[in-house]
Amino acid sequence: MDKRAVKLAPSILAADFARLGEQVAEAARAGADRIHVDVMDGHFVPNLSMGPAIVASLRPLTQLPLETHLMVTSPDLFLDAFVSAGSDSLLVHWEANNNLHRTVQRVKALGKRVGVVINPATPASALEEILQDLDQVLVMTVNPGFGHQGFIDTTVPKIRRLREMIDAIKPDCDLEVDGGIDADTAPLVAEAGANVLVAGTAIFGDQCPILDPSGLLAERPGGHRHRSASSRA
Ligand code: DX5
Ligand code: ZN
Repeated sequence: MDKRAVKLAPSILAADFARLGEQVAEAARAGADRIHVDVMDGHFVPNLSMGPAIVASLRPLTQLPLETHLMVTSPDLFLDAFVSAGSDSLLVHWEANNNLHRTVQRVKALGKRVGVVINPATPASALEEILQDLDQVLVMTVNPGFGHQGFIDTTVPKIRRLREMIDAIKPDCDLEVDGGIDADTAPLVAEAGANVLVAGTAIFGDQCPILDPSGLLAERPGGHRHRSASSRA
């Protein structure tokens, strides 16, 4: 496995919203490095989730960075609102943006970390020209819109290609993955070069009462918990 330190970003999409503050505090105590906030607009993805009010509610409750994953068709419309609410980083989709460079520069001008997200069918090469401006690249390992989906194995070689690109062009850029990350898939993506793992169900799901985040990678004695990649949906 790659020796770089791997960070964990629990996604509150899978949390119990009736006790969101407590769940974020539990994730922080368990060792989360940042909190991942999934924003869905019902257009870019076929689901609705949360807006700036959730970020504003969480802001006084945690010292952890709040990263905001904007699954919306017009991210530019919402950048200021999320920054005002307390977001520390804004992640915008390559597929949702005709003027990505402008959006990226706008986030930087707001003084926040900026990331670009690519869907499973979008190639690593799409980021070649913008990579030098980014703090984070987020590779979707499921199609965005819902938690608790099966990890898409074909994203692993793409993660490997992005690791090479990042090491060559912007070594301090985070390479983050999102979707279907659990104790079986975390080692695959970490080995491919991801250094930040988003996980919702594996942290907050009913069967996983706040897993120690580091457990996602630690539970790999000799790899025997590791299902074969082709066995997953
Ligand atoms: C999917 C979201 C993910 C999701 C991950 O559109 O971007 O952050 O919550 O959930 P799990 O870990 O359950 O796949
Ligand atoms: Zn997400």
